[in-house]
Amino acid sequence: MIEIIGVHKTLGGRPVLEGVDLDVREGETLVIMGPSGTGKSVLLKHIVGLFDPDAGDIIVDGISVPSSSREEIAAIRAKIAYVFQNSALFDSMTVRGNLLMGLPPGSYQNRMAECEELARTALNYVNLAPDVLALYPAELSGGMQRRVAIARAIIGKHRYVLYDEPTTGLDPVNATRINRLIAHVSREVDATSIVVTHDVTSAFFLADRIVLLSEGVIQAEGTPEELRVTDNPAVREFLDAAPGAGVRGA
Ligand SMILES: Nc1ncnc2c1ncn2[C@@H]1O[C@H](COP(=O)(O)OP(=O)(O)O)[C@@H](O)[C@H]1O
Ligand SMILES: [Mg+2]
Repeated sequence: MIEIIGVHKTLGGRPVLEGVDLDVREGETLVIMGPSGTGKSVLLKHIVGLFDPDAGDIIVDGISVPSSSREEIAAIRAKIAYVFQNSALFDSMTVRGNLLMGLPPGSYQNRMAECEELARTALNYVNLAPDVLALYPAELSGGMQRRVAIARAIIGKHRYVLYDEPTTGLDPVNATRINRLIAHVSREVDATSIVVTHDVTSAFFLADRIVLLSEGVIQAEGTPEELRVTDNPAVREFLDAAPGAGVRGA
């Protein structure tokens, strides 16, 4: 379980997070929606200790991330797969090389056969055949590159998967494929997932629960069905501005 408690963060002299409270429940897919520049990526980075809060706490499986040592943070990161916004692959490496970058340093040298197996398993989760292992990113379509990026994040660690804008920049067909893939991965590996998106269609397709982050705080929380009919003005403003808002699976 991930608990975010009263998190405040000012960046570049501007308050970004102003008291964010959020629990992520075991096994759920939680979607964090919100306008651009509202602190969604900043919030995710607090979970893996890339940012320390000015006030408040982030607790992963009972351990406070900001008060953890480097070793403890490494242990926390080992169970959290993080698909970064615009997650780029290394052009000069094959898919195999890219996937192995998702494993702890040095593991390939010591456990080559095991790592190869992990790479194949991760590819299988994202519905790619092992023959892409030898290809370079430039030989893959944009949608396939995004799949490899997800495979790289989940290789060998499945407890939590954080996705930052996984469908941004993809055409609708590939965006739908990635949404289906995220749903498939969380079922297959039984992970707890957090998906950050400003894409309302993705949010309604994927979420067990949705929160709206805006103006530094969680403005609303609910199931897709609850948010679709809510009177909450922040939610209405966000949903009504989005084309196709709230149409599940559209
Ligand atoms: N490393 C940083 N240094 C200073 N400001 C930052 C940094 N990272 C993000 N910000 C600022 O924090 C705000 C929220 O950013 P971000 O979390 O990336 O928004 P989004 O909700 O689009 O993911 C933005 O104003 C951004 O400029
Ligand atoms: Mg972002």
